[in-house]
Amino acid sequence: MAPTNDFNDRMLSLGLARVSEAAAHASAKLIGRGDEKAADQAAVNAMRDQLNMLDIKGTVVIGEGERDEAPMLFIGEEVGSGNGPEVDIALDPLEGTTLTAKDMPNALTVIAMAPRGTLLHAPDVYMDKLAVGPGYPKDVVSLEMSPAERVRALAKAGGVTPEDITVCILERPRHEEMIAEVRSTGAAIRLITDGDVAGVIHVAEAEITGIDMYMGSGGAPEGVLAAAALKCMGGQMWGRLMFRNDDERGRAAKAGITDLNRIYTRDEMVTADVIFSATGVTNGSIVKGLRREPGFIETETILMRSKTGSVRRMFYRNPVKRA
Ligand code: FBP
Repeated sequence: MAPTNDFNDRMLSLGLARVSEAAAHASAKLIGRGDEKAADQAAVNAMRDQLNMLDIKGTVVIGEGERDEAPMLFIGEEVGSGNGPEVDIALDPLEGTTLTAKDMPNALTVIAMAPRGTLLHAPDVYMDKLAVGPGYPKDVVSLEMSPAERVRALAKAGGVTPEDITVCILERPRHEEMIAEVRSTGAAIRLITDGDVAGVIHVAEAEITGIDMYMGSGGAPEGVLAAAALKCMGGQMWGRLMFRNDDERGRAAKAGITDLNRIYTRDEMVTADVIFSATGVTNGSIVKGLRREPGFIETETILMRSKTGSVRRMFYRNPVKRA
């Protein structure tokens, strides 16, 4: 079939799954080998090769970094065959490089695609993030509330007590006060050492993951990827970019961001329908990690479309190429 210029999310989605699968497949040999860089590089190479097979005119808007610091999949790189719709691509070929190197849970390969101009061009700075799953009233919590106020507001809206709420937070010294304040309400905290795309996605399936709310700062690019996932699965998210110095403010200016204090909702980070694919590298509660058996690698991928809210989990068993 000749490629069309429409953003045919249904047709493009399977191609996107192949991209995240290929990245996971490439990182297989590097799980638990203590080499973050090699694991990331393998995933980057595979993701780029696979992406270039798609009939799209793609531009990487969330990628491996600025052109001068990342030779491949840098921000602004054109990807795809050049035929087909103009799209924005947000990607993290290996979300959780340390998790992969140490064989710890929740490392994923992640990619999202949307029509050109509809994904926030988030610079590589931190973002203060807050997310809750579907089913709560609009703006039930906010970034302006204190961590304790958020817990109490969410508990009230859900008709439960703060003791029934579990919050997911990245374990970092910068979060010590937040952690203490959340604990003072009686709520439980699931601390994660890395991987806040998975951290945020957990709130969309609270009945499976046991996580009701995500809060804390992490990478802004990961924030946009998480917003894309929640747009497909349901749930609310807010993010505010954080700037520590002039270099970071300069990155924002380069990305066309003028209001440095703006709070972005999920739909302001991802303004049109999006497709999202993530493949498990190490085991997690969203998807299983990849499994090696003689001659084969099996991966699990979560593939979603915001237009329909469809969430597909797919197992893919692929022969390992002989050397
Ligand atoms: P990498 O896979 O690029 O190492 O990122 C892992 C991660 O944990 C992200 O999920 C998160 O957004 C960010 O790092 C947090 O940054 P920091 O380690 O500086 O707190």
